[in-house]
Amino acid sequence: MNVVDLIRKKRDGVELTTAEIRFLVDGVCSGQIPDYQLAAFLMAACCRGLGRRETMELTLAMAESGEQVRPGAIPPPVVDKHSTGGVGDKVTLVVVPLLAAAGVRVAKLSGRGLGHTGGTVDKLQSIPGLRTDLSLGEFVQQVRRIGAAIAAASTELVPADARLYALRDVTATVDSLPLIASSVMAKKLAGGADVIVLDVKHGRGALVQEVEDARRLAELMLEIGTRAGRRMAAILSSMDQPLGRAVGNANEVEEAIACLKGGGPPDLEDVAMQIAAVALCLGKEARSVEEARDRLRGVLRSGRAAEKLGALVRAQGGPVDFLEVPQRYLPKAPVRGQLRASRAGYVDAVDALQVGEVACGLGAGRRLRGQPVDLGVGLELHAKIGDRVVPGQPLATVHARSAADLESALTALSCAFGYRNSPVQPPRVLTATLLAGDP
Ligand code: URA
Repeated sequence: MNVVDLIRKKRDGVELTTAEIRFLVDGVCSGQIPDYQLAAFLMAACCRGLGRRETMELTLAMAESGEQVRPGAIPPPVVDKHSTGGVGDKVTLVVVPLLAAAGVRVAKLSGRGLGHTGGTVDKLQSIPGLRTDLSLGEFVQQVRRIGAAIAAASTELVPADARLYALRDVTATVDSLPLIASSVMAKKLAGGADVIVLDVKHGRGALVQEVEDARRLAELMLEIGTRAGRRMAAILSSMDQPLGRAVGNANEVEEAIACLKGGGPPDLEDVAMQIAAVALCLGKEARSVEEARDRLRGVLRSGRAAEKLGALVRAQGGPVDFLEVPQRYLPKAPVRGQLRASRAGYVDAVDALQVGEVACGLGAGRRLRGQPVDLGVGLELHAKIGDRVVPGQPLATVHARSAADLESALTALSCAFGYRNSPVQPPRVLTATLLAGDP
């Protein structure tokens, strides 16, 4: 078999065989296929698409490309969640400790930032000493011991995704439904969870813009997971404006902690609660989403969810008192400035794509593979869709590493805001909840 032939086949829209897909994934892991050929293949797959069978087989080959959590290695139910990526999406940092504090085990394999969207692994890196490169043994042991772990795809866990994900990020091949589905589901299958809840974002700042495409993506992933014997659900949620108010890395960790302590922004809490409630129902820990929500609200109020994040940070090498004094540890960019409203009106747009690009430009995301991200830069939104503003009112605070970066960020950010003279209804963040098997 020859890689050039596979690239040509895909370029011409021909379906690959099982053996060809396995050959490709083997070459990804062994390093025998160089980046330029992989990049060409990814572009061909992105433009031509992959069929359902090809996507399923690519997912399984990627899941099996490294070690996998054996069924039964962690007592069930083991829950996992995954987002297709957004701007300001720190939901994992809320849901994982929340569910663990509610008594279910959460084994989470996460990714780094992708395109203009942030990634949990980068956010966690802003906690000094915290490791996400857990070995399979460490991952399993930690979930057994404290009920939760968050690890990155690595040379041991889903190595095919670790390499393809990093290449897609810098080759404009991120927004392809089969490539997203196989990347997400390979990690979920290898992570060993029997209950998986997906958060499929749609809108300006999502990898998938249209609700109908998000639904197709969700259905594709539900089918892959169900066929692999997992209990699956997906929520569709809007990413037209950033989720919450913080966008960056360290500042998103801070906002997630605020949410766990009961003071988070309502849209972040809505998404986190719905994912956690659906997971509790699928795990047979609650009879209805309402019952699950009640229980989760009690867990949040008790402070146990915040304590659980503290335990996870300690278990993964972070400071022992991180949850008590996060500001002592989280990096902060040295230069700050505010964007102010130029006119009176009601905010009718906070373009999540534009905000994500601004955060990336500040250094919170990557333009080149392996580029280090600046963990202390980012922005805080003081106004969101539906808010009434007066001239001069702060719309956002930008945290930058230099005055020049601040200047260009403020100019670009001003294009993210739109206004109207008449009142604007704040949009709903939750669009739908799909259970596997739903028509
Ligand atoms: N999250 C992933 O893990 N992979 C993707 O391709 C997109 C979001």
